[in-house]
Amino acid sequence: MRALCWVGVNKLQVEDVAEPHILNSHDAVVKVSLSAACGSDLHLLGGYIPTMRAGDVLGHEFIGEIVEVGSGVVKHRVGDRVVVCSFISCGHCHYCKNQLYSLCDNGNPNPGITDTMWGAAPGGCYGYSHAMGGWAGSHAEFIRVPYADQGAFPVPEGVSDTRALFASDAAPTGWMGADLGGVRPGDVVAVWGAGGVGQMAARAAMLLGAERVVVIDRFAERLQQVEEQIGVETLDYSSQDVLPELKEMTGGRGPDVCIEAVGMEAHSTGPAYLYDQVKHQLRLQTDRPTAVREAILACRKGGSVYVLGVFGALVDKFPLGALMNKGVTLRAAQQHGQRYIPMLLERMAAGELRTEHLATHVMSLEDSPHGYQMFKEKADGCVRAVFRP
Ligand SMILES: NC(=O)c1ccc[n+]([C@@H]2O[C@H](COP(=O)([O-])OP(=O)(O)OC[C@H]3O[C@@H](n4cnc5c(N)ncnc54)[C@H](O)[C@@H]3O)[C@@H](O)[C@H]2O)c1
Ligand SMILES: [Zn+2]
Ligand SMILES: [Zn+2]
Repeated sequence: MRALCWVGVNKLQVEDVAEPHILNSHDAVVKVSLSAACGSDLHLLGGYIPTMRAGDVLGHEFIGEIVEVGSGVVKHRVGDRVVVCSFISCGHCHYCKNQLYSLCDNGNPNPGITDTMWGAAPGGCYGYSHAMGGWAGSHAEFIRVPYADQGAFPVPEGVSDTRALFASDAAPTGWMGADLGGVRPGDVVAVWGAGGVGQMAARAAMLLGAERVVVIDRFAERLQQVEEQIGVETLDYSSQDVLPELKEMTGGRGPDVCIEAVGMEAHSTGPAYLYDQVKHQLRLQTDRPTAVREAILACRKGGSVYVLGVFGALVDKFPLGALMNKGVTLRAAQQHGQRYIPMLLERMAAGELRTEHLATHVMSLEDSPHGYQMFKEKADGCVRAVFRP
């Protein structure tokens, strides 16, 4: 079958690879109908997350049809249209039982790397390096889905593939940021990053009753989507001063909840960016935490910051003093999608959560290297490049 493979830093290629088969009784094989490039994949492409090997298949945000099930699968049948959570969880370990699905003890069959790096291994993710399990990704004609009863969800009739696709990753990630960030009715919420994840976090904050939501970015097309499709306010950090603007909007207090949806390759203006870039490129720091710093500084006293953006290891110039003295709560996680996906699919069916505008560029799998290039450069207003195997 054809699949998009990582072949080196900033090098992708569509290649012939072996088709997946059922290996365990709880597996299913899914014929992929749509698979999207996520901001997390850009960190792999740029070589910021090591432990990729030439020939690894990328992709973790996908929807498709079940074509084969293992003997232990009870919820799904061949022919079912399913959306699959990007994180792989067993459903039975201590963490899964506590709904902390991305921390599953069994989702990563290769825990040694992250155990050494972080002191414990989180779960696994499709197409996301050998550190995260070495699972084959979804930018392919077929994919093996382990723990299929836990990770695959039937898509309600009437919800289009393009809408349901984002219930795999962007929508549950955004929802988790707003939910576990503690958004309450009446809150003011600021979101850094207007990509798929930031937009979904903003929509979640609204649906959870926030009174005012503002999304910060610099790409006009993305900010326009936020205003028109999500229906919230925006700030352009390339022409506006974010901290004073947020103070002004909140009567001098700062937002109650700040959600960071940017990650380790943050951009910014000013000398701090140059410093971060140089250290990052020389691998003297693993991540550029620009938006995390700003979120902590912006947050009101006693408020909370939720980091959705992916980070690899160590950061520099972390404002621990502001965090501590302002009594700010800082939380972060890879997404616990299994907790939210059924509810999100219902909201999609009810028309409360629309996502299709994120799929700005839909193309064949053969064109996916070009799609990644556009997505990386945010060229032609690209928010998500989506591939049709
Ligand atoms: N926690 C999870 O489970 C999870 C799941 C999916 C994605 N992610 C991570 O979320 C992040 C966002 O993903 P995405 O798909 O939306 O990516 P994306 O690349 O489409 O969007 C990131 C956006 O951040 C903006 N940005 C850069 N620097 C900024 C700054 N200083 N202030 C404000 N905005 C800034 C960019 O202009 C861009 O629009 C990535 O780091 C990705 O790895 C995490
Ligand atoms: Zn993702
Ligand atoms: Zn588990």
